[in-house]
Amino acid sequence: MGAVKPQDLWEDSADAWAAFVEEGDKNRDLLLDPVMLRVCGDVHGARVADIGCGEGRFARMLAKRGASVIGIDPTRGLIRVASRKAGSPRYVLARAEEIPLVSGETDLVVTYVTLVDIEGYREAIAEMARILRPQGRLVVANLNPFVTARMTGWHKGTNGEYLHYPVDDYLEERGERIAWRGLDIVNYHRPLSAYFEAFLGAGMILRRFEEPAPSRQAIRAAPGLAQNLRVPFFYVAEWQKGA
Ligand SMILES: C[S@@+](CC[C@H](N)C(=O)[O-])C[C@H]1O[C@@H](n2cnc3c(N)ncnc32)[C@H](O)[C@@H]1O
Repeated sequence: MGAVKPQDLWEDSADAWAAFVEEGDKNRDLLLDPVMLRVCGDVHGARVADIGCGEGRFARMLAKRGASVIGIDPTRGLIRVASRKAGSPRYVLARAEEIPLVSGETDLVVTYVTLVDIEGYREAIAEMARILRPQGRLVVANLNPFVTARMTGWHKGTNGEYLHYPVDDYLEERGERIAWRGLDIVNYHRPLSAYFEAFLGAGMILRRFEEPAPSRQAIRAAPGLAQNLRVPFFYVAEWQKGA
């Protein structure tokens, strides 16, 4: 990525991200949260780590459900906002590639649309597996790799109708600078096979894999979500650590 450090970009984008979340992200509120909460299941009393927790929205949701949550994120500006919003999660400034937790000390690790932002995804996935106890679970929401393979978005027709979503250079791993809503960050594309190799190599077993589709109610509230019926932007996976 040349001289620009992806972490510096995140630091400069922290306020814009916090504002985006504060405003309410329909993809999170209406599409991903219901699936993530269902897959996480009963977290009461569970020791949970949220890796790449940002300003802490999902960490707070799990804490409200009785989990003991540690939020990990390397962006100082976001950890500051998260700590200010308080609630019970504890926050630690750190990268996923080097998580300052003891091996086996968590029951559940979650990472909510963050793998796409993590430079060293292989190290990060190995770290997430390391901090889990045997049989512990890792619940991942991420952008589908066919979405990150071309970050130009939908091709639209002359009347603004959605024609198709282009995919290209799918097998090539790379970072791409993207700017939207005041953020200017790097997102990383890797094929699904590369992610799977990293999870399987870390001793994780796949238990569930979903591509969330919006409910009719969700589409009524946010018509733009209907695009996910044609191109599901996200997946949610549940991995379990072997014995
Ligand atoms: C798209 S935001 C998602 C935040 C939060 N999970 C949410 O859903 O609101 C991506 C997050 O990844 C964090 N991040 C970037 N590089 C990271 C790394 N190497 N390790 C852990 N988190 C990282 C950023 O600071 C940012 O908070």
